[in-house]
Amino acid sequence: MQSELLQAMTGAEAQAYDPDPRGRRSARQAIASYYAVRGVSIDEDRLVLTTGTSEAYSYLFRLLCDPGDEVLAPAPCYPLFDYLADAECVRLVQTPLVFDERWQLDLAMLEAAISERTRALLLVHPNNPTGHYTRRAEAEAIFDICRRHGIALIVDEVFLDYSLIEVADEDATSFLARPTDAMVFVVSGISKILALPQMKLGWIAVPCGEEIEIATDRDVALERLEVLADTFLSVGTPVQVALPLWLQQSKAIQKEISARIRRNLATLDDLLAEQATRWVSRLRVEAGWYVILRVPMLQTDEEMALLLLERGVLVHPGRFFGLPGWLVVSLLASEDEFAAGARMLLQVAAARAVKMM
Ligand SMILES: Cc1ncc(COP(=O)(O)O)c(C=O)c1O
Repeated sequence: MQSELLQAMTGAEAQAYDPDPRGRRSARQAIASYYAVRGVSIDEDRLVLTTGTSEAYSYLFRLLCDPGDEVLAPAPCYPLFDYLADAECVRLVQTPLVFDERWQLDLAMLEAAISERTRALLLVHPNNPTGHYTRRAEAEAIFDICRRHGIALIVDEVFLDYSLIEVADEDATSFLARPTDAMVFVVSGISKILALPQMKLGWIAVPCGEEIEIATDRDVALERLEVLADTFLSVGTPVQVALPLWLQQSKAIQKEISARIRRNLATLDDLLAEQATRWVSRLRVEAGWYVILRVPMLQTDEEMALLLLERGVLVHPGRFFGLPGWLVVSLLASEDEFAAGARMLLQVAAARAVKMM
C-alpha cells in the first residue's frame, strides 16, 4: 500500500506548476468528499489548503489579529498554541477546563477571560490531551459567547475520526455540521487523519453563513485567506495531486490505527487493574491518541518523565499541556512496545512511591 500511495506523487501532473491559491480543485473536492462520507457538507470553494494545521493557525492569527491581540484556549491544551501565538505576536490566554467525571469548560471563567483585545477562541475537538468532545450544549453556549463578544471560533478537528468510546452523534460531530451565526473556522489535516505528518497538508474550512450579514463576513474572510495563501503558495503540487487517492484510503488507515489504540488502552487497563497498590490510574478518554495518567505526586511530572526516558520509555510531562503533576502517554506505539513501556512505568511509579513512604 505504501508504494501505491507514493506512486501517486510521481506522475506528470505532479511535476507541473499551475498553482491555485486555495489549493488544487481536485484536492479540495477530495476533502469535501471525505467530509460527505462522514455526513458533513462543505463546498470545495470554502476550503483553503495549507502545509498543515500549524500554518492554518498562522494564517488565521494573521487574518484575525493585530500584534498584541489575544486568543483564548481552554487548558489543558495542545502545547504548540503558545509558540504559534508567539510567532504571530499574539498573546495566548488560557481558560480552565475542569474534570468532573468528564472534561468540560468553565463557561463563566471563559467569558470572564475575554478582553477588548480577544479576537478568537481556540477549541480542539476532540481535545488533545484530554480526549474529550465539546458537547452540543457546550458548543451552543460557546457560539453564543463568541457572537455576543464578536470573536471568532477556530476549531481543530484533527482527531475527530478517532473515537474510543460511544458518544452521542450530536456531541461527537464536526463543527461544520453545527449551524451557527458565530464566525467559525475549522482546521484539520492529514498528519492525523491519514497519519502522514511528513506529507505536510492541512486545510481551513470556512462554512457559509445563512444570514446575509454573516455570509458576507465569512466570504470576506475567505477572500483574505486566499490572499494570504497566494502570498506563500506553500503547499507542494505532488501532495495535492496524490491527496484524492490517499483520502480514499482514510477509513482503512483509521481502522488500523483505532484498533491499535484500543488494544493499547485495554492493555493499559489490564495492567492498571493488576497493580498491588493502585499508585497509577487514568482519566476517562473519549477519543484521540493520548491518555492522561495520575501518578504518585512524589516528584514532578518532569522528573518522572526523565526517569522513564533513562529507561527507554517516552512519556510527556503533563505540564507541557498545562497539567502539572500528570503524565500524558501516547497510545500509538506498537502493541509490544506499549505493553513493555506501560509495565516499566508502573514499576517505576510503585518503586518510587514505596521508597518515599
Ligand atoms: C491538536 C493538534 N492539532 C494539530 C496537530 C498536527 O499539526 P500539523 O497538521 O501541523 O502536523 C496536532 C499534532 O499533534 C495536534 O495535537
